[in-house]
Amino acid sequence: MEKDKQDLTKEKIDLYEAKKSGLMKMGGESLIRKQHELGKLTARERLDRFFDPESFQETQLFVKHRSTLFGLGEKEIPADAVITGFGLVNGRTVFAAAHDFTSAGGSLGEMHAGKIWKVMDMALSARKPFVSLNDSGGARIQEGVPSLEGYGGIFYRNTIASGYIPQITAIMGPTAGGAVYSPALTDWVFMVKKSSYMYITGPEVVKAVIGEEVSHDELGGAVAHATKSGVCHFATESDEDCLAKIRTLLSFLPDSCHSPSPLASCTDSHDRECSELDTIIPDKANRVYDMKRVIMAVADKGEMFEPHELWAKNIIVAFIRIMGRPIGVIANNPRFIAGVLDVNASDKASRFIRFCDAFNIPLLTFTDVPGYMPGTRQEWSGIISHGAKLLHAYSEATVPKITVVTRKAYGGAYLGMCSKQLGADYVMAWPTAQIAVMGAEGACNVVYRRELSAAADPAAKRAELVRSYEEQFNNPYFAAGLGIIEEIIRPRDTRKRIAALLGALKDKAETRLPKKHNNIPL
Ligand code: HXC
Repeated sequence: MEKDKQDLTKEKIDLYEAKKSGLMKMGGESLIRKQHELGKLTARERLDRFFDPESFQETQLFVKHRSTLFGLGEKEIPADAVITGFGLVNGRTVFAAAHDFTSAGGSLGEMHAGKIWKVMDMALSARKPFVSLNDSGGARIQEGVPSLEGYGGIFYRNTIASGYIPQITAIMGPTAGGAVYSPALTDWVFMVKKSSYMYITGPEVVKAVIGEEVSHDELGGAVAHATKSGVCHFATESDEDCLAKIRTLLSFLPDSCHSPSPLASCTDSHDRECSELDTIIPDKANRVYDMKRVIMAVADKGEMFEPHELWAKNIIVAFIRIMGRPIGVIANNPRFIAGVLDVNASDKASRFIRFCDAFNIPLLTFTDVPGYMPGTRQEWSGIISHGAKLLHAYSEATVPKITVVTRKAYGGAYLGMCSKQLGADYVMAWPTAQIAVMGAEGACNVVYRRELSAAADPAAKRAELVRSYEEQFNNPYFAAGLGIIEEIIRPRDTRKRIAALLGALKDKAETRLPKKHNNIPL
């Protein structure tokens, strides 16, 4: 009797093992080979590489589709084409979903979506990050409208989770049509060069509708979205590179808006002098220098992690650590269009500021900005409302905000780069700073128009007036004298001043008026 029971149990366990191992084979050997030939890992390989060894715990492996239309009734789709679960990344829990392209092209149907909803709901309850590894032909066409409902439920959850838990998407294959909107609703989009693309409509439709001929890659590849649209924050070289970079990003992020920032061990010293900064500003105001060297000089061990490296290069956003704590840096980049603020730079910085504020990451701003970009192209693209985003994002941010003016800080753009009146906790300037309503040449043209046109020697008169304007305003002393900036520091002291300020401000608590939410000029 006892033996019969044991045999029956074994039989059931064997059956379970057989079913499970069938599902684990995904779409089968030939489709896995095809995936590899395209330079792509399978969904399971991706999850294995992404999580700490042996830590991945799969959820809802046995879920099946229940559609019978267009021959689907007879079609087995292992795990319904998506692998979901959770595991550890550098010892911290993260939830994830990975489309399995080898099963029905990773297409998303009703039950497939339900698995993603479940794991997103778990991430929300557990207050842990959610990562989506996308490689899918989009809505499962045979299932019809339930697959659209599936996407709708994901968009809704992406929105509910926004600002509550970090959400990251990696595009590791096709992503077309409405399927692009979940990535766009998440905080960070990674893409793999050559093997991934995302677009609203593919090349065939583009050709049919507007007669334009374009390849998949040109239209929506990683480089296109990392350099032209800004949809992609990180264009990576391979699946492995992409997964490693997501792990790095997660090392800067808290689990949720209610969790402490991850503190890395720090061997760098809080009072390290950065003597190289004393000579970094060129003698001439229109010469460029490398702002990334400034950021790296103040960062622990000279390390920075930079999203949007290839888009809107006139502004830099980056994560660094100071004394082990993650910090979000925003800096004008004089190497590209003189570091001027334009539509894209404003959007790039504003979204980064709002992300950091949502997740309690202090903001450090380096200012060297000649102004907002003039001209019809920018005006007609809405520089007014895009530029306003930056003012809004900085003003609404309640995390510690420290600003260092390295050189130019002119006009509205001076205000826009986290000035005192936008709530900066502490504004410092290097002795090389020029804080003014506008540059000397432009100012003299406006203020001394009559004197210049009446002068016997206009060039000599202009030089004299420019010099006098520069003596008055093109330095940090006028602003410091009025308390508009808090302090003038030697460039070499920048790291130690920032480290001290961040230590002092670490328990900063600032509340805003009770209301439903702000209305940022989108
Ligand atoms: C059902 C799909 C599918 C889909 C691919 N497959 N996409 N099945 N619904 N959306 C299936 C294929 O039929 C095939 O099944 C297998 O996946 C592999 O696809 P292939 O075409 O053989 O692969 P490949 O040549 O690499 O081409 C990949 C592809 C192509 C470019 C993604 O499959 C494709 O164009 N798919 C349709 C893309 C699309 O139009 N999606 C938009 C759907 S509408 P078999 O059985 O032959 O192996 C949408 C709207 C969402 O997504 C809106 C949300 C709001």
